[in-house]
Amino acid sequence: MLGPPGSGKGTQGELISQRYRLPRISTGDILRRAVRDKTPLGLEAEAMMNRGVLVSDEIVLGIIRQRIAADDCRPGYVLDGFPRTVRQAEALETLETDRPERALELRVDLPELVKRLSARLVCSRCSAVYNLLVEPPRQAGVCDACGGPLIRRKDDEPQVIAERLNVYRKEAEPLREFYTSRNAYFAVDSQGSAQDVFGRVSAYLDGILTGVAGRTGEARG
Ligand code: AP5
Repeated sequence: MLGPPGSGKGTQGELISQRYRLPRISTGDILRRAVRDKTPLGLEAEAMMNRGVLVSDEIVLGIIRQRIAADDCRPGYVLDGFPRTVRQAEALETLETDRPERALELRVDLPELVKRLSARLVCSRCSAVYNLLVEPPRQAGVCDACGGPLIRRKDDEPQVIAERLNVYRKEAEPLREFYTSRNAYFAVDSQGSAQDVFGRVSAYLDGILTGVAGRTGEARG
């Protein structure tokens, strides 16, 4: 899943994971857990993440290589926030020779992205995502799922959001070209409610599974 910060990769990735029974692999979540647990990986990644720039391809590819080799990934998997660069996409192709990739990009306009990120809270224990405007927790500051404390991500500060958007703009076009050239790129309008967006996402995925979807195209709202 490709898309700018706040476009709903985590939200849609989770819905896909539940409906199609595929594990969701979020490099951002894995890195944030490593930062929280102060592992060597986390210590190396923390400064980059707090600045809103990309962690090195070596670190991220190490995470992906290990994770997609796990048994639960055998039927396939949803990658959320990976690949971020053409180099990562090329590396994925060499790691994944049996199962073809499909790239799904979520598109949202800038004011909506900023609005979503400014209202986001995440659980510091289980990584569940909330939104004070559209999906608030039942009890303020407490995760509905595990009771853990809800926090604001450090990279959701306005200056860091701006840097993350810059990084995305720079990397996105080459990635689009990469997957379009492989006839494997699809864009989905991610404006509207999460369920509306999921309607468009699942229509595309159902089309792939039944063999009727075009391999490249766009679903507008
Ligand atoms: P990562 O965690 O991947 O962050 P991101 O790409 O910036 O995306 P976000 O998690 O901010 O947003 P999202 O699109 O998942 O939206 P969400 O569903 O949460 O990466 C963080 C950092 O890790 C990077 O900056 C980098 O340093 C590093 N990193 C990660 N992967 C890397 C890689 N491959 N290579 C190198 N470095 C890497 O939704 C946002 C909010 O909106 C939520 O509150 C949600 O509830 C709400 N919302 C969702 N959908 C809707 C909707 N339809 N309507 C209204 N609100 C909605």
